[in-house]
Amino acid sequence: MSILAMDRPRAEAQNAMSPAAGAAAIHIKGLEKSFGSNRVLRGIDLDIPAGQFVAVIGKSGCGKSTLLRILLGLEEPSAGHLRFETADGSQAQPNTRIVFQEPRLLPWFSVADNVAVGLGEGVPQDVSRQETASVLSEVQLAEKAGEWPSSLSGGQKQRVALARALVSKPDVLALDEPLGALDALTRIGMQELLNRVWRELGFTAVLVTHDVSEAVHLADRVVVLDEGRIVLDLDIPHPHPRRHGNPALAELEGQLLAAILGEIRS
Ligand SMILES: Nc1ncnc2c1ncn2[C@@H]1O[C@H](COP(=O)(O)OP(=O)(O)O)[C@@H](O)[C@H]1O
Ligand SMILES: [Mg+2]
Repeated sequence: MSILAMDRPRAEAQNAMSPAAGAAAIHIKGLEKSFGSNRVLRGIDLDIPAGQFVAVIGKSGCGKSTLLRILLGLEEPSAGHLRFETADGSQAQPNTRIVFQEPRLLPWFSVADNVAVGLGEGVPQDVSRQETASVLSEVQLAEKAGEWPSSLSGGQKQRVALARALVSKPDVLALDEPLGALDALTRIGMQELLNRVWRELGFTAVLVTHDVSEAVHLADRVVVLDEGRIVLDLDIPHPHPRRHGNPALAELEGQLLAAILGEIRS
């Protein structure tokens, strides 16, 4: 698939999904998580406005995935608070979804049925069919609906995983190194796709990545974790979509690398 084809403006998107019901703001205060004597998160304070795209970056083992699992309610914090606020002001648990590095598709389900899994139980079949077709078109895989996952490339499988996460119109989308296993060109194409669906659907995004260039390309804000704390919280004040190779972004990448490598302590 051409990278340019994925970067089409919104007006041209065929069969585009309707926007999320409302992105949720995330408020994290004094968050700690220990596993036995291993103090993984040591006091995280982070306020993420509704609809913001935040990247979380840091060395392997610094607690990025743990933070995402707490956001999704898959892990309980040891101390501190996590609160969501949806557009209508309610503080109920919003619809949160996650995409992992491995697509985790069911091999005995078609592409469309794998996506429909994301809707959960009890959705009428005609609604399910319509929503599935719409999100598959959003990730430019409409023509693969009836195929088996085994016939897809790595990048296509990951787009199916993204579609499965998006089909229920999440308020918060967590992404745990979703592009980590893809080759460089597929990865750039996926970054454009991710940026476009985020702009179109308006969810709050929390992306864990190892790649500073990816973080700076996609996020409004990049948070660097080290030894369980936020050591840098950097705004990326550039309009989307962004061009690869922009010198101002390269400068921000440098700042982030310095923080990750421990040369900056704020
Ligand atoms: N369920 C668990 N039980 C025990 N230790 C865990 C568990 N989950 C994560 N850890 C530990 O927490 C630390 C952070 O892990 P993780 O959040 O996966 O790091 P990252 O995603 O930044 O690489 C690691 O030392 C890991 O071994
Ligand atoms: Mg991880």
